[in-house]
Amino acid sequence: DEVADIRASLLKWYDVNQRDLPWRRINQSDVNDDDEIDSKAYAVWVSEIMLQQTRVQTVISYFNRWMEKWPTVHHLAQASIEEVNEVWAGLGYYRRARFLLEGAKMVVEDGGKFPRSVSDLRRVKGIGEYTAGAIASIAFKEAVPVVDGNVIRVIARLKTISANPKDIATIKNVWRLAGQLVDSHRPGDFNQAVMELGATLCTPISPNCSSCPVSAQCNALLNSKHDPSALVTRY
Ligand code: ADE
Repeated sequence: DEVADIRASLLKWYDVNQRDLPWRRINQSDVNDDDEIDSKAYAVWVSEIMLQQTRVQTVISYFNRWMEKWPTVHHLAQASIEEVNEVWAGLGYYRRARFLLEGAKMVVEDGGKFPRSVSDLRRVKGIGEYTAGAIASIAFKEAVPVVDGNVIRVIARLKTISANPKDIATIKNVWRLAGQLVDSHRPGDFNQAVMELGATLCTPISPNCSSCPVSAQCNALLNSKHDPSALVTRY
């Protein structure tokens, strides 16, 4: 069916085209004991918080420096706010750095293990729906969606949602649709594939539909054959 085709095509595309990013180095298949799951969760958490307001290319060197200085959540929990701000310097929105430090202290006080579900992750300082979904799907393989600006645009095009993307109802609708699409065997790879597609091919202006793995399932592309404005997006 169509959902199965979208999943298979996106995952196959991601396997070949994913960018080599430092927080992806620990692969799902390598993660088999509990400590490795926590180390993956920590790397995903730090990278996703950095990526919230900053581009991938900028984040890479900050992420590497951060992980060298504080390789685990236990190391981070011992840091001072001054040290954390120093490593963060240049990334902006410093409350993200403070949230990471406060979150690390919470996790360590709680026994040093990351909570293993979206709902429990949400209790950690600074972890919202997006970050909880990213950690749970990528590190714990929980079949939950993540929705950021790129995901909104990809899903809006696939399903031709034209409502205002800033509208709470639109965003809720995209979370619902993303939850129906997410692949239950490889949720982390699936979510990252959608984000990667939005960042590299399904861009706001002149998307590269001829290289897109899900062009056959895209309603916006289909509509654009008779209505050139169908691929124009406000997302
Ligand atoms: N943007 C934010 N997080 C990302 C991720 N994990 N993969 C690709 N793009 C992203």
